[in-house]
Amino acid sequence: MLVAVAWPYANGPLHLGHLAGAYLPADVFARYHRIVGDRVLMVSGSDGHGTPITVRAEQEGITPAEVVDRFHPEFLRYWEELGVSFDLFTTTLTENHRETTQEILRGLHRNGYLEARTTRQPYDPEAGRFLPDRYVEGTCPRCGSEGARGDQCDACGATLDPVDLVAPRSKVTGATPEFRETEHWFLRLPLLADRLEAWLASREGWRPHVINWALGFVREGLQDRAITRDIDWGVPLPDDVMLEGGERKRVYVWFDAVIGYLSASREWAQRSGDPEAWRAWWEDPAAESYYFIGKDNVPFHAVFWPAQLMGSGDLNLPTDVPANQYVTFKGAKASKSLGVGTSILDALERFTPDQLRYAVAASFPEQQDVDLTEDDMLRRVNDELAAAWGNLVNRVLAMTAKQFDGRVPEPGPRDERDSALLATVDAALAEAGAAIARVELRRGLRAALTGAQEVNAYLNATEPWRTAKVDRERTATTLWTALQAIAGLAVAFAPYVPFSSATILGWLGLGEDVVAVGWRRPEVPVGTVLGAAVPLFPRVEAAEVDGAA
Ligand code: MF3
Ligand code: ZN
Repeated sequence: MLVAVAWPYANGPLHLGHLAGAYLPADVFARYHRIVGDRVLMVSGSDGHGTPITVRAEQEGITPAEVVDRFHPEFLRYWEELGVSFDLFTTTLTENHRETTQEILRGLHRNGYLEARTTRQPYDPEAGRFLPDRYVEGTCPRCGSEGARGDQCDACGATLDPVDLVAPRSKVTGATPEFRETEHWFLRLPLLADRLEAWLASREGWRPHVINWALGFVREGLQDRAITRDIDWGVPLPDDVMLEGGERKRVYVWFDAVIGYLSASREWAQRSGDPEAWRAWWEDPAAESYYFIGKDNVPFHAVFWPAQLMGSGDLNLPTDVPANQYVTFKGAKASKSLGVGTSILDALERFTPDQLRYAVAASFPEQQDVDLTEDDMLRRVNDELAAAWGNLVNRVLAMTAKQFDGRVPEPGPRDERDSALLATVDAALAEAGAAIARVELRRGLRAALTGAQEVNAYLNATEPWRTAKVDRERTATTLWTALQAIAGLAVAFAPYVPFSSATILGWLGLGEDVVAVGWRRPEVPVGTVLGAAVPLFPRVEAAEVDGAA
């Protein structure tokens, strides 16, 4: 199972929209598959090339490499603190990545999918330079919104060519660009259109918004696409795939970034001591690959990356591209470039990692945009996670401590309610697992929460706090049953809130490693000495609004 996660541009902090759109869904999915026993390789890294990086470097008067060096360590800190469990989170600035990119270029060239072509590109006469991608802005020819960039319109998601922009202007000087001739490599997508369409049409279980977009795009008619730029930052062209003046040109960032999945897999293999180990995920037809991305990345993962793979060789194509829609904060798209949304580090000041993971996972924008408000987040962590799950664990452990000296009691004869509860938990585990496997992650979380609510209902019906005074055996049966149920639910919650699930399993004497437990309800043996439970999810209060008079 290859879990491939979008490579964030290392040009600014990440916010909750990134977390909800790619990193957390990928982690939930990867953790589930590890628990099930699949061999998971989860990779990504900092996207260090392209105009998003160079524009920032120029603004700050530093080098592009320095921009990446600033944000890459910050990204690593997020993953560490949030438990986003990458096997490798590297960057596109490595020699390995350059070589891998050049190999793909050679493969496409050898197979006749590249064509050198003279094109007209925007050129800033005042600055004396070409204006690739984000260096030129204008009005989107498709949706009419202002501020579309040379390569893409954020408002409608169109991938653009700078010549299409209405009223273009240079981001460097504000000048109206002239168009000058320059030679570039083009990927001959029309030659791959039939294969792409047949492959897409054969996909099963893809989210409707992803497959509909991709198929529609291919059926509308693909065009050759420039994959090099007049820029001095990026992967250089190999000698055997040269262009006129090619030393001053670089591979287009979107061409090399997606290759990162492959180069990171190789780097991981190198580091693991078995340099060929990456092949298991890329060559074995039994391997599956899931690409976790935001919807603005759909063209690159559902069409262009598969085309790069098809045209260059025979490596595995994506099994699924479960792209997410956007998380909005009061309506504005959470975007790093726009500076909208709560930063991850800010959020970690207020929420524990598991609380943040829970609140975000409950609002994954799987089928449509989701507006995430602070009220929603507080309700999720206080009323659901703490009230229904954390408090349940604490109550049952505290009662067992009090009534049975903190040891799992020997149950008496079990009645229908007892067996029904454990059957319910087993069903919740099965339902959550099936949902996660289909990348319906909100639904998986809902199944776990519903399971916890069932245990609360069971306790309200069996009232162990009341029977304790009159029927010790009945109380033992109730608490034994509740403890078994909790063990199963800790597994069901583990992909979402791994820290607390590990703690709970530890309290139950089952060890903190849920992968060793597997995706099943483990039996908590009679006589186990239970850990002393402390509250798992401290209450989070509403933020005081600065400046509120
Ligand atoms: N850097 C891009 C972004 O932040 C995502 C690149 S995903 C990759 O939108 F697959 F191309 F790496
Ligand atoms: Zn547009």
